[in-house]
Amino acid sequence: MLGVVYTSFIEMVEEKFSPEVADQLLENPQLQYGGIYTAVGSYEHHDIIRMAVHLSEISGIPADDLVPVFGEYLFHQLVERYPQMVDGCDNLLDFLQGIETSVHTQVRALYPSAQLPRFECIREDSNHLTMHYESKRPFVNLARGLIQGAANYFGQDYQVEVIRSRETADNKASFYITTTI
Ligand code: HEM
Repeated sequence: MLGVVYTSFIEMVEEKFSPEVADQLLENPQLQYGGIYTAVGSYEHHDIIRMAVHLSEISGIPADDLVPVFGEYLFHQLVERYPQMVDGCDNLLDFLQGIETSVHTQVRALYPSAQLPRFECIREDSNHLTMHYESKRPFVNLARGLIQGAANYFGQDYQVEVIRSRETADNKASFYITTTI
């Protein structure tokens, strides 16, 4: 996992909780990398899951609620870092439809070591998009938050139904998205 995901997570904890809570997470002796991450580094994804679970224990907020909030935050960090990814796009569904073919394809070109999920997108009509998500990593909730972050960015209301796979509920899911006019 690229370091920018880690540094964004820490930044979110500092902002939405406190710098003390962030320190508490980073000092966890179970962390593989000793709590040291740089935006340009590359790390296994396990530490971020440990920190999300730890944050849930400290705050009493279920991890299933925390992770989407992080996804929303992460989206804005990513846009700040890679503004070219949203260039020329003025609505949510056109943008999401291009996640695999445009956005993550550009990420792969920039960072060959990036570990990205697979999205298969089907555009039913101008207001409906289906996104089938599949990953080796369990980030359905993160994807949910990133979609929310994109909706905030484009200032659009939408509804989403998330159907998780029965076998691998955190690694595979379908998002049925409808925008309201
Ligand atoms: C400006 C827009 C975006 C950029 C620049 C971007 C870039 C990235 C980057 C750099 C990573 C980390 C790769 C790694 O850890 O090696 C990532 C992961 C991920 N992205 Fe995106 N992304 C964007 C938008 C989105 C959106 C809107 C979604 C959801 C529809 C999404 C879904 C995901 C997921 C779920 C992961 C976690 C990895 C996994 O599931 O295996 N991304 N993305």
